[in-house]
Amino acid sequence: MNIAVIGTGYVGLVVGSCFAESGNDVVCVDNNSEKIANLEKGIIPIYEPGLPDLIERNVRDGRLTFTTDIRSAIQRSKVIFIAVGTPTTPSGAADLSAVHTVATTIGKSLDGYKVVVTKSTVPVGTADSVRSLIRKETSQAFDVVSNPEFLKQGAAVEDFMRPDRIVVGCDNPKPAEILRELYAPFVRTGSPIMVSDIRTAEMVKYAANAFLAARISFMNEISNLCEAVGADVDMVRKGLAADARIGHAFLFPGVGYGGSCFPKDTRALIQTGREHSTPMRILEAVEAVNNDQARRFVDRVLKHFDGDIQGKRFGVWGLAFKPRTNDMRDAPAITIINKLLEKGAVISAYDPEAMEEGKRIFGSRIEFAPNNYECLVGADALLLVTEWQAFRNPNFDRIKDVMRRHIVFDGRNIFDAAHLAELGFTYYGIGRK
Ligand SMILES: NC(=O)c1ccc[n+]([C@@H]2O[C@H](COP(=O)([O-])OP(=O)(O)OC[C@H]3O[C@@H](n4cnc5c(N)ncnc54)[C@H](O)[C@@H]3O)[C@@H](O)[C@H]2O)c1
Repeated sequence: MNIAVIGTGYVGLVVGSCFAESGNDVVCVDNNSEKIANLEKGIIPIYEPGLPDLIERNVRDGRLTFTTDIRSAIQRSKVIFIAVGTPTTPSGAADLSAVHTVATTIGKSLDGYKVVVTKSTVPVGTADSVRSLIRKETSQAFDVVSNPEFLKQGAAVEDFMRPDRIVVGCDNPKPAEILRELYAPFVRTGSPIMVSDIRTAEMVKYAANAFLAARISFMNEISNLCEAVGADVDMVRKGLAADARIGHAFLFPGVGYGGSCFPKDTRALIQTGREHSTPMRILEAVEAVNNDQARRFVDRVLKHFDGDIQGKRFGVWGLAFKPRTNDMRDAPAITIINKLLEKGAVISAYDPEAMEEGKRIFGSRIEFAPNNYECLVGADALLLVTEWQAFRNPNFDRIKDVMRRHIVFDGRNIFDAAHLAELGFTYYGIGRK
C-alpha cells in the first residue's frame, strides 16, 4: 500500500518506518526542512532504540522516503496518517492548529479516494473538524478514521510491531477494511483490532493515558503518606502489585510523570470535561499531585541543607523524562533543576542520551559532565532523577572518592538504601523507611 505519514516526530518516524518494514511504500512528510534534509542524509533526530536500523534498511530497500512536498505525498498515497504535534495551549486544551492546517492541505491536494487517519492524540470531535476542513476544499471522496497510537517512547518500535490492541474509529466499513489489511502483519499473535465509532476511538486514547497517569499520582500520594506515617512504600507497592486485580505496572513512586503525553493529555481531558460541563475531578487531583511531586523532591534537598543551598554543588543523573529516550518535554528534571538554580545551587548534569536537549534547554546555566562519575566531582549531593539502566548499579566507592559530601537523593527509589547506609552515605528515597 502507498502510505503518507505527515509529521516526522517520535510517532510519525516510528509509524512510517514500521509500515515500511511490513512491505508498504511509505513517504514521511514534515514541514521542518532541516529535519527532512537530515533524515535524507541518514541523521535521525531522536533517540529511540531499534529505530536507526529500521530506517536505514527501509530507505536502502526503497520503501521509505522523506519529503517536505506534502501535496505529492498525498497524491501518491492511499492512506494518509496525520501524526503532527498537538501541544498544550494556555487553557490546557490541545492545540489543533497543525492538525487543522494539514487537513486543509489534504483537502486542497486530493485527486481521488483516500483514507485520512488521525494518528495524533486529538480530543473527541476532532475527526469531525478534520472532515469538514477537507470537505471545504474538495468534492473528491474520502474517509476520516481515528486510529490513536499507544506506543511508549523508549520501546516504540517494539510496541508498534507487537501492539496490545489496535483501535480504529470509523463511520463506514470501507476504511476499516483498509486499516485491517494494513495492520494484519502486526496482530498475527492475536492482538485485537477494535473497530468503533470515531468519537469512542478518540476517547480510548485519552482514557488510557489518564488512567496510567492516575496510577502514578495515586502511588506518589500513597508514598507521601508513607513518609508521614512511617510506612515503607516499597512493601506497600509490592503488596498492591501482587493483587491480580491491580498488577504491577505504573505503580512506582518518584518525582512525577513527565513527557509529551501524560501531562498534556490529562490537561486536555480535563479541558474537554469543562467544555461539556462534566468536571474530571479525579484527573484534576492527578495533575495537582503530579505538579507537587518535583517540588517535594526539591523541598527534601532544601530541608537537608537547612534551606541554604547557595553555592552547593549537585550532580544530577538523568535529564530525559524517562529512560531510553532523549525527550525532555515536560521532564521533571527541568522543574527540579530550575528550582535548585533559583536557590543558588550549582548543577552538573549527565544523561546518556539527552545531553543535546539539556544544552538546548539550560545552555550555560548548568554544567554538563562527560559521564556520571565526573558529574559528581566535588558534589555536595547526588540527585537521581531518571532511572537509566546504567545508573542502577554504579561503583559507589568511586562515587565516594569524588564527592565532597556523601548524600544521595534517589528520586526513583532505584538504590539499595541499606547498602548505601553501610557505605556511609546519607540516603533519601521517596516514601521509603
Ligand atoms: N510521543 C509519544 O510517545 C506519543 C505516543 C502516542 C501518541 N502521540 C501523539 O502523536 C502526536 C505526535 O507526537 P510526537 O511526539 O511524534 O510529536 P513531535 O513533536 O515529535 O512531532 C511532530 C512533527 O510534526 C511536524 N509538523 C508540525 N506541523 C506540521 C505541518 N503542518 N506539516 C507537516 N509536519 C508538521 C513537526 O515538525 C514535528 O516533526 C501527538 O498528538 C502526540 O500526543 C505521541
